[in-house]
Amino acid sequence: MTKSRFVAAMLAAAVVSAVAAVALAQAPPANPPPPLRLGLGDLMTMLVQPRHTKLGLGGQARNWDYVAYELHELEEAFERVERASPRYRTFSVTEMLGLTKEPMTALEAAIKTRDGARFDAAYQKLTESCNACHRGMDKAMVVIQFPKLSPFPDQNFTAQKP
Ligand code: HEC
Repeated sequence: MTKSRFVAAMLAAAVVSAVAAVALAQAPPANPPPPLRLGLGDLMTMLVQPRHTKLGLGGQARNWDYVAYELHELEEAFERVERASPRYRTFSVTEMLGLTKEPMTALEAAIKTRDGARFDAAYQKLTESCNACHRGMDKAMVVIQFPKLSPFPDQNFTAQKP
């Protein structure tokens, strides 16, 4: 073998093994795990419940900038729930989420006018709408209430002086 043919052969071998390595790296594993699908109960516990709790705690502290932010987060949580689970068994989640619309709008108005009493009343209505949906979807045993204690010991819900 001439020197140039030897070099060509070595280069060809290198290209072949590089292509094989890329192909191996891209090949799906033999038994891919099934995609993780979160159920409505998971989404409620992970996305909705903490937002509801924090909204209540921030409202109690009359921390208006914070509750304006947190109400928006709760709204987004409901949107994500609807996108991931538009139906639950025989029920339409999309339709039942309508129960929360009025209390959410009332909360927004209370926050804009920084009206504590109005906030408290609207928060109570929102909490009732959580429970109305639970009763309507055969989950009357899931009862939501005003958060009596903060489960977030590392978060200060009071408004800070700028
Ligand atoms: C569209 C209807 C609907 C609305 C509105 C709704 N929920 Fe739910 N929620 C459900 C259903 C249905 C389940 C049961 C899901 C399951 O078990 O898979 C559930 C379950 C839960 C759970 C799980 C209970 C547990 O102990 O594991 C929590 C917590 C919860 N909801 C909190 C809330 C809160 C807080 C609100 C209001 C801010 C709310 N939900 C509004 C339908 C709703």
